[in-house]
This record gives sequence, structure tokens and C-alpha cells, in this order.
Amino acid sequence: MNIDELKSVANAIVATHKGVLAADESNPTIKKRFAPIEVESTEENRRRYRELLFTTDGIERHVGGVILFDETLRQSTRDGVPFPQLLSSRGIIPGIKVDQGAKALALHPGEKVTEGLTGLRDRLAEYRQLGAQFAKWRAVIEIDERDIPSAFGIEANAHALARYAALCQEAGLVPIVEPEVLMDGAHGIERCEAVTARVLQAVFAALHAHRVLFEGMLLKPNMVIAGKQCARQAGVQEVAEATLRCLRRYVPAAVPGIVFLSGGQSAEDATDHLNAMNAMGPQPWEVSFSYGRALQAPVLAAWRGQEDNVAAAQNALLNRCHLNGLARAGKYSRTLDDAT
Ligand code: 13P
Repeated sequence: MNIDELKSVANAIVATHKGVLAADESNPTIKKRFAPIEVESTEENRRRYRELLFTTDGIERHVGGVILFDETLRQSTRDGVPFPQLLSSRGIIPGIKVDQGAKALALHPGEKVTEGLTGLRDRLAEYRQLGAQFAKWRAVIEIDERDIPSAFGIEANAHALARYAALCQEAGLVPIVEPEVLMDGAHGIERCEAVTARVLQAVFAALHAHRVLFEGMLLKPNMVIAGKQCARQAGVQEVAEATLRCLRRYVPAAVPGIVFLSGGQSAEDATDHLNAMNAMGPQPWEVSFSYGRALQAPVLAAWRGQEDNVAAAQNALLNRCHLNGLARAGKYSRTLDDAT
């Protein structure tokens, strides 16, 4: 493991004004994203869409890294430039989703554990050869009225995340560690904070036990937010304060960056929350984004699969990247969104 290289890649991804574009939807997920805009999920349509994203002029000002899916890492532009090479040439670091999805946790109804450790060392070596410099693994934690998540469910996911992260660092890839507490449900923001706290505590204990170097990783957490079906939705400032309070308690200052997932928030809400956190002043780590839907929803809506719409779709992506770049500095305001 080259410690200096891990640190420099982790720091570059969250450099000033920058964050991550999560474009690592698995084939079943991208099919769901294409369905409402009536685009068939063929290999060529997926390639065309990712080419649109990765060739957008100007995103390199706000995008330090892009997470790719296995298929995408092996695809090229229509002119034959492999996507990882294209991104690197633009100063954007290519990364790869390496988990194989959250599956039911045996004998624990309502809970999931993420699979993909078997053979991971060999896959990481191949991904590195193909140009990836960082990786991502997503654990999924649901909140339910019953006793969910259980202590065991949290431990099982923390353990898998830590094994993944250690394998990544051994292979010279920066691990993005993503324990996602879902927004689904009617729970209030207080319950989300309590569960997120338990999860982060378990994840960092497991990372430490597995000898993961905190300086050479990034954390991709959920924000602390009320469940989607909760009658009382917390305001922007309340979300920002609860999220930072929770992270400051459980995330070591040695971690260079927090890159939030958007998790089903609207693009505007995700930017607003990020902005409010950065407006609260400097934190021990960079406070940034690794959004999938919150960056891509407006792009998909503008594109609808049509070549004629590529320029409009690229504008939508550039606009979202620009606004999140402002939010990285606490300089976004909702009126900027209303104006576009
Ligand atoms: P969302 O921002 O759409 O939650 O996606 C981020 C991601 O990479 C989920 O694993």
C-alpha cells in the first residue's frame, strides 16, 4: 500500500469546490432511471448516456471523481476513447463500484447485507489496470418501527465495509465507505440521528480493527433527515445541524472528506443541505457531495434519449455541478435554483 498515493487521491477527489458524480448505477438501477423518460436500457443507450455525462465541458471544475459501474469502466466514447482515459485526461479521477448489491440478511427479516467480497482482491487488481483509482461499496440500513436495524445487522454491514476498505487500500485504491441509512419510512429526524450514530460508530470501529488508514479513505454517509413519510419534515438548518453534530461525534478528523449521498432528496434540497453545512464554517473534514440522482435527475429529464437534447442535458449537468460547487463554499442560495 502506497500511503502517499492513497492520501493524494483522496484529497484530490474532495479538492476545493469539488465533489463526486456517482454514475455507477447497476444495470437494473439504470433501467429504472431510463423507464420514466422512455429510453430502453440497451448497452448502447447506457454508453451514449454516460458519454453525454463525461464529455460535458466544464464539469471538471466541480467534479473531482466519477464512480463508474463495471460495464461503463470498459466502455468508450463513439470515437473509441475508453471512459477512464477520457476522464483522467480531463483531470477527473475514475472510480468503480465494487459491491454486488444489498441482499436479504439471513434470519434477519427486514435487514440487508451487501455482497461482493468473494474474489474482490482479483477484481480490484483488474479495475486498477483498467484505470480506476478509487472504489465504492454501499451498505444499506433500513429503519423500521420494529427493532430494526438490529445490532447484528449493523455489525454485519460494518464488517463487510471494513473488509472491502482494507482490500482496496492493499490494492492501492481509495475506498469510499458508504453506509446508507435509508430515508424510507415514517421515522423522525431524531431516530435517523440515533441510528446513523450507531452505524458510524460501528463502521469506524470495524475500519480501525481492519487497520484501514483513515487518511486514505472517504466516507459517503446519508444526511440526518426525517423519513420520507414522516409528518414533520425538518428544515434545512435543522438537517445541517443534526448531520454535523452526528458526524463530528463519530468520524475521525483524519478522514479527508465526507461525500454525501443524496438518497432520494430532490436536487435542490440536496444542494441546500450541503450549502447549509458548509455555511456553518470549517469542519475537520471537507464537506462535499457524491450525488447520483441529485446530479442526474435534471439531466435525464432534459435528455429523454434524443441526440437533439444532448446540449440541453449537458447544460443541466453543468448547472447542477456549478450549484453544488457553490454549496461547497456555503455560497448557494435557493433563488439561484429558482432562476434556472
Ligand atoms: P444517490 O445520490 O442517488 O443516493 O446515489 C448515490 C450513490 O452512489 C448510491 O450508492
